[in-house]
Amino acid sequence: MQTIAIDNVSKSFGSLNVLSQVDFTIAQGEFAAIVGPSGCGKSTVLRMIAGLETASTGAVKANGTPITAPDPSRMLIFQEHALYPWRTVAKNVAFGLELSGVSKKEWSIRVNEVLDKVGLSGFQKYYPHQLSGGMRQRAAIARALVTDPEVLLLDEPFGALDAITKISMQNELLRLWEGTGKTVLLITHDIDEAIYLADTIYVMSPRPGQIVERISTEMPRPRNRNGADFVAVRERIMSHLDLANH
Ligand SMILES: Nc1ncnc2c1ncn2[C@@H]1O[C@H](COP(=O)(O)OP(=O)(O)O)[C@@H](O)[C@H]1O
Ligand SMILES: [Mg+2]
Repeated sequence: MQTIAIDNVSKSFGSLNVLSQVDFTIAQGEFAAIVGPSGCGKSTVLRMIAGLETASTGAVKANGTPITAPDPSRMLIFQEHALYPWRTVAKNVAFGLELSGVSKKEWSIRVNEVLDKVGLSGFQKYYPHQLSGGMRQRAAIARALVTDPEVLLLDEPFGALDAITKISMQNELLRLWEGTGKTVLLITHDIDEAIYLADTIYVMSPRPGQIVERISTEMPRPRNRNGADFVAVRERIMSHLDLANH
């Protein structure tokens, strides 16, 4: 299992300073979230943990070792274009296994197990266009889970879903994560989603992104979105995002 450390990371693309001295640690098994304005560098943080970008200064580490390349133990899930439209659900989910050299017999067992976990058993032969948005996102989650990763990196995974589907997917995600020891980092525009799900929430400033607040939610689950402590955290985040008086 993995502890992820973002050690004093700054990142520039040419002359564009995107992140400035970002420093935080996600303990193994922790569910962390980042909220912040569009363009502040949230996806860049995630892509660095996924091994798809490197820091300009500072380092991103897993269990103390710098992350230099993608690794199947750390899976990135994003909102759109997550599935190959020309592959069935089963073939999409199997994609990660095909590359890892797991035998065909074993992979169909693993694929069926993970589809069952996300509530998609029976949909093996469907194509993405034959599924609802929520089912497509379940399939994308299944594909990420099939290799049993230690770290899940979620980039606005439910941003395209309707409000009701989104709430049920949030509950599914909690069910899939609780008790697994998997380390999760969720990026979301949805403040309530962060408070509902995360143990720790990092609020980022506009670009160049900096962490302006760290909040430990410390509420038992399932959380009441209208509870006093929930509302207090929401107000705290909104005040940092400068939304409270608009
Ligand atoms: N590969 C890249 N090359 C150049 N600029 C990039 C690259 N990736 C991201 N950026 C820029 O960095 C800034 C932060 O992007 P991003 O991390 O996607 O922000 P967020 O996810 O918070 O909306 C944006 O201005 C974006 O245009
Ligand atoms: Mg982004």
